[in-house]
Amino acid sequence: MTSMKIIESIKYAVGVLLLCASFPSVAKTYKIAVISDMNGSYGSKNYSRAVDAAIENIRASGYHAVLSTGDMVAGQKSGLDYAGMWQAFHSHVTRPLDNVGLALLPSAGNHDAGQGREEERQHYSATFAGFPIDRFNPTRPADEKIVFAPGVAQNYPFYYAVIMGPALLIALDATAPGGLGSNQLGWLEDVLRRHASTPLKVIFGHMPLLPFTFQRAHEYLAASNTTFATRFEDLLARYGVQLFLNGHHHAYFQGYRKIQTRYVSVPLLGSGARQLLTTDRSHSARSQEGFLELTFDDAGRFQVRALASPSMQEIPLNSLPSAISIPATESSDCRGCRNFPAQLFLDSSSRSVYQRL
Ligand SMILES: [Fe+2]
Repeated sequence: MTSMKIIESIKYAVGVLLLCASFPSVAKTYKIAVISDMNGSYGSKNYSRAVDAAIENIRASGYHAVLSTGDMVAGQKSGLDYAGMWQAFHSHVTRPLDNVGLALLPSAGNHDAGQGREEERQHYSATFAGFPIDRFNPTRPADEKIVFAPGVAQNYPFYYAVIMGPALLIALDATAPGGLGSNQLGWLEDVLRRHASTPLKVIFGHMPLLPFTFQRAHEYLAASNTTFATRFEDLLARYGVQLFLNGHHHAYFQGYRKIQTRYVSVPLLGSGARQLLTTDRSHSARSQEGFLELTFDDAGRFQVRALASPSMQEIPLNSLPSAISIPATESSDCRGCRNFPAQLFLDSSSRSVYQRL
């Protein structure tokens, strides 16, 4: 090659490099589905059309993983066929997802493995031991592998933390009101401290921090334990947790409190639709069955939307009340509402606890 040709080749290579630098490649997008409250009545082994349609859609829509915020089976009662119920769940949910290489990351609900229900907790633990979280890693690119977050204690499938690409996904064992057992707050702080630089931090579990719906107004993590709310929110704020996802309340809502964390109540897929809490009961519509689609990029920028099932139509945020607020009067579907702890209100005149996104 003549020296002129070498110079031309170098000029061409430099030109290509400059072109690449001025047009950075399109950022990679990750997609996670979040499913919740899929069960029916006690002992049921049936799953609704909404569950099957959601799984069918998730299988075909390019997701990288699926999270569950609990109540996958209908336990919390003695003498039920737990093994049979889990078999039914896996045949409707876990295995169809497995068949397309999609791992389900579980978190326990009160009907799966409630606090103090040792027999049910053993079934829950044994059944998910058969579905290790890294089972699809050999077939995935490096940035889509799901691995246990290094350097922290793991108690899969109860409370555990995994990394997938830019996301830290933390499952809580949150099946009962009144706080978190097993020193999970200490554990959570350890996880967040050691993985503080992960761009997107998501916590998911069954029980919400504060209530979203009538009939469950008294069932939330900070119930009779306002100190817990303060400590928990301090942690979320300190480590910049972007998302806290909960089940149990059976209704979709996305809201904020005084910190940067977005609180998202995951819609139900099974039976038991409920109404969102508003002081004047103005929002009387029952919640729709559906699931969440969480998308994010390498920088941790994220979006959350809810798709109704089986229609797969997006549930618009502006169809929800502008805030979740607690009625001042006590009633059978609003237990503890009159004396709801004042320090948990965002604004005590409106009695709001979450402001809609
Ligand atoms: Fe529940």
